[in-house]
Amino acid sequence: MGKITIIRFFVLTTMLMMAIAVELPNNWRICDRSLPQKEYNQCIADAVKDAVVSLAGGLKSFKILPIEPLTVDSVKIGESQGSVTLRQEYKNIKLYGLTKNLEVKNYNIDWDKCLLSSDSYNPQVDFVADYKIEGKVLLLPVRGAGKSNITMYDLKSHNDIYCEKYEKNGETYLRIKKHAVKFNPDKVKLRFENLFDGNKELGEQMNRFINENSELIFKELQTAYEETFSLVFTKIDNEIFNRIPFDKIFPPK
Ligand SMILES: *[C@@H]1O[C@H](CO)[C@@H](O)[C@H](O)[C@H]1NC(C)=O
Repeated sequence: MGKITIIRFFVLTTMLMMAIAVELPNNWRICDRSLPQKEYNQCIADAVKDAVVSLAGGLKSFKILPIEPLTVDSVKIGESQGSVTLRQEYKNIKLYGLTKNLEVKNYNIDWDKCLLSSDSYNPQVDFVADYKIEGKVLLLPVRGAGKSNITMYDLKSHNDIYCEKYEKNGETYLRIKKHAVKFNPDKVKLRFENLFDGNKELGEQMNRFINENSELIFKELQTAYEETFSLVFTKIDNEIFNRIPFDKIFPPK
C-alpha cells in the first residue's frame, strides 16, 4: 500500500468509527415533548425501562457490556461502629435480575436543576460474589471466605441522576455527574458458604443467625452497595449520553 492509500484507509476507518453510535438504537423510544406533562413522564419511564431491558446483552456500538448479569470488580466494606463490626470484601461480583420484570415509575425531569428522578422495582436481585469476612455480628465472632449470595426480594430503588449540559463540536450533550441509587428491599436473604474454614455445623448456625438478623446486616452493607452501583450506573449512563446529542434524546417541541 502506498502512503496515500494508507492515509485514506485511516481516514475512512476513523470516519466509519465516528459514524457508529451517533444515533440512539432504533428500538429505543423517543418521547414527544408536546405531550401533557403526565403522559410525557410516563413515556419517559416506559422508554427508560425498555432501554434498560434492551441492555441485558450489552450494546457493542456504545461499549456497554451486558448488564444481565451486571459484573463489578470488587466492594470493600470497612469495620463499622454499630452492632455489626465486620470487615467484608467481595470480588467477582455478579448482579442478577436487574432487567427481569423491571418496572420504572414516577419519572420526573427538572431541566433547571438538570435532575432526572425515578423509582424502580425488581422482584428479585441476586448479588453473587466471592466473599471474605471477619469480625463480629451482634457479639458473635464470624469469619470465612468462599461463595456468597445475597438476595434482595421486592427491591424498590430510587434513582437521582444529576447532570450538566456541555458543548461538543457545536452540539449540546449531557454529562451525568452522579447516578445516585437508594435500595429498599422488602426482604433480604444472605448465604455465605464455607464459613469457619468449612465447619458445617458452625457455618449453618451462623447462616441461620445472619438471616434472623438480615435487616440489621443489610443496613451495614447498604451504603457500600449503593455507592458501588452508583459508580457503575453513572458510567453506563455516560456511555450513552456522551455519544448522542441532547436534542436527539430529548427532542424539543
Ligand atoms: C442465589 O439465591 C437465590 C435465592 O435463594 C437463588 O434464586 C439464586 O439461584 C442463587 N444464585 C446462585 C448463583 O446461587
